[in-house]
Amino acid sequence: MLHMQDVDLKNKRVFIRLDLNVPLHEGKITSSERIDRAIPTINLALKKNAKIIIASHLGRPKEGQCTKNFSLFPVFKYLQKKLSGINMIFLQNYLQGISLKSNQITVLENVRFNQGETQNNEELSQKYANLCDVFIMDAFATAHRIESSTYGICDFVKKSCIGPLLYSEITTLKRIFDKSKHPITTVIGGAKVSTKFKLLSSLLKITDNMLVGGGIANTFISTFYSVGKSLYEKDFQEKAKQLYKTKKIFLPIDSLVSTSYSITSKAQKKSVSNIMPYEEILDIGEKTIQNYIKTIQQAKTIIWNGPMGVFEFPNFRKGTQKIAQSIANSNAFSIAGGGDTIAVIDLFNLKNKISYISTGGGAFLEFIENKTLPILEKLKNQ
Ligand code: 3PG
Repeated sequence: MLHMQDVDLKNKRVFIRLDLNVPLHEGKITSSERIDRAIPTINLALKKNAKIIIASHLGRPKEGQCTKNFSLFPVFKYLQKKLSGINMIFLQNYLQGISLKSNQITVLENVRFNQGETQNNEELSQKYANLCDVFIMDAFATAHRIESSTYGICDFVKKSCIGPLLYSEITTLKRIFDKSKHPITTVIGGAKVSTKFKLLSSLLKITDNMLVGGGIANTFISTFYSVGKSLYEKDFQEKAKQLYKTKKIFLPIDSLVSTSYSITSKAQKKSVSNIMPYEEILDIGEKTIQNYIKTIQQAKTIIWNGPMGVFEFPNFRKGTQKIAQSIANSNAFSIAGGGDTIAVIDLFNLKNKISYISTGGGAFLEFIENKTLPILEKLKNQ
């Protein structure tokens, strides 16, 4: 693969795909880790006197619609502060062409506002390619997605290369997994149920036990009991039954539920076998926390992706907090990854106690599964 470090970028129009998909609350960035980890790449492009275009997605907006909630403008403001003294502009309309200057940075509005982005539309990929001379793929956290700005653009651009963050993530993860010690405990939660469910079988092959929370846990629980209004995926129930037979999966036995979904919702303790149709599981309960901590304390390697519940709501934060702290305090080698996981690590100030933090969530799990990612294969064949 061609590496950004080895490419002459002087006065070249360079399209850098980063993953700046950070959590926001009322327009404010609540965890800047993904942006901070991308800054060395931007500095390298500046050092090489490139004409820089930065592109990223943010969240999952409805394609074709520009909505304020999903705008990258807060990310642009943050970058402006971090890169003070650098001439920076933010562009909403860019697909028909941009005028660029050396050592100026142009940040594009959310690429997922463009119709066709997530379907890897050829016409859109071509439009991105027309904006640049060199494409740099450095969005590790989105490297598992075959989309126009992460993948399709390579088919039309003159030159494509891999960025330093993506390269460092894959080489570090590979080194860690080649040497990881047993027992390996995987802690997996969060709301992106379908993305993660597809990866559970291969994760189960490399792990000794798996502690589940969030929508993933609810999907398993739903094969035994009703989960009321809780987040779960009906389409994965059969798969959940199969996976449970491995006897490696630990499920919540108790939970905190609510009848409403809001930051002020009150929590009620409930056994998972007794959830009413109008109730929603929003966190794991105390007995589950204690069970999970016991397993975490015995692990030699911990792979952690996703919160145990809705940690953004104070009344449903405890399960995620206790599990996160016990991972941080364990003697195991701990690898954590994903946007929400990083936000949890920031929230509870655990950054220095996790052995390796990956910027990727789904990408990190998919890389563990396949030891490669679609874009890596494409870059190899350029
Ligand atoms: C992530 O947060 O895992 C990445 O930014 C990818 O986001 P996606 O799951 O919406 O593609």
